[in-house]
Amino acid sequence: MYPNPRPTGERPLTVQDFRKMRDAGEKVACLTAYDASFARLADAAGVEIVLVGDSLGMVVHGQGTTVGVSNEDIVYHCRAVATGLSRAFLMADMPFLSFATRDAAIRSAQDLMQRGGAKMVKLEGGAIQADIVEFLTARGVPVCAHLGLQPQLIHKLGGFKVQGRDEALAAQMREDARVLEQAGADMLLIECVPSGLAGDITAAAGVPVIGIGAGPATDAQILVMHDILGVSRGRVPRFVKNYLSGRDDIEAAMRAYVEEVKSGAYPAPEHGFGD
Ligand code: KIV
Repeated sequence: MYPNPRPTGERPLTVQDFRKMRDAGEKVACLTAYDASFARLADAAGVEIVLVGDSLGMVVHGQGTTVGVSNEDIVYHCRAVATGLSRAFLMADMPFLSFATRDAAIRSAQDLMQRGGAKMVKLEGGAIQADIVEFLTARGVPVCAHLGLQPQLIHKLGGFKVQGRDEALAAQMREDARVLEQAGADMLLIECVPSGLAGDITAAAGVPVIGIGAGPATDAQILVMHDILGVSRGRVPRFVKNYLSGRDDIEAAMRAYVEEVKSGAYPAPEHGFGD
């Protein structure tokens, strides 16, 4: 259904590979992408998980938040990205309210996987999403549960802020991670949390944990592609690093990012948040 236009001889990565890499202590490099050309570069540079994030609402569509992104938007960009990947694993975001009920969630996941070519879906939310995670994973949908800063909650939070500095919220997040894993989540992603808390969640988890603005302890790192290429304007979060700076080639920039994730050079202490 999704012919590989660029066979490299390397087999596509699977969810089991990420479990093995976690067990072996090998860091996983993840990046967002939204079209076939950049996906191809990311794949060639060694990126292992490519996320079609709802960040596309901001970096591609120019909106101030991710709230307006539709399931159809993600399917459209997934189809393009899927054609650019040979080895990397394709993850797709479930947009705001697209998983508010079991029916909505299964329809959204069906579209993202069957029409978009995604191999895993990612949804934002804590233990309140356990029922949806269990429903999807029991039906063969691999799920990554997104904790910490949840950009879809922007209108409740009032801004993009570090989450879990307060001990009560930190305890709640540890519990959310446990409950979501028990519900069947195949991966966790934690965004914008103190590095110590991210370390606790990663140590306690039995599945791979991806971090963004969560310090060095997580099993994997992810960044938004536009951020590592210095495309984003205005104030960028402290965990962002511009890998195109000093390089004149986008693939080389992506490769440098992958190498720094793999070696542990990224994230450095200045990219993380203290307690
Ligand atoms: O939408 C997105 O790109 C994301 C990443 C920032 C993790 O969720």
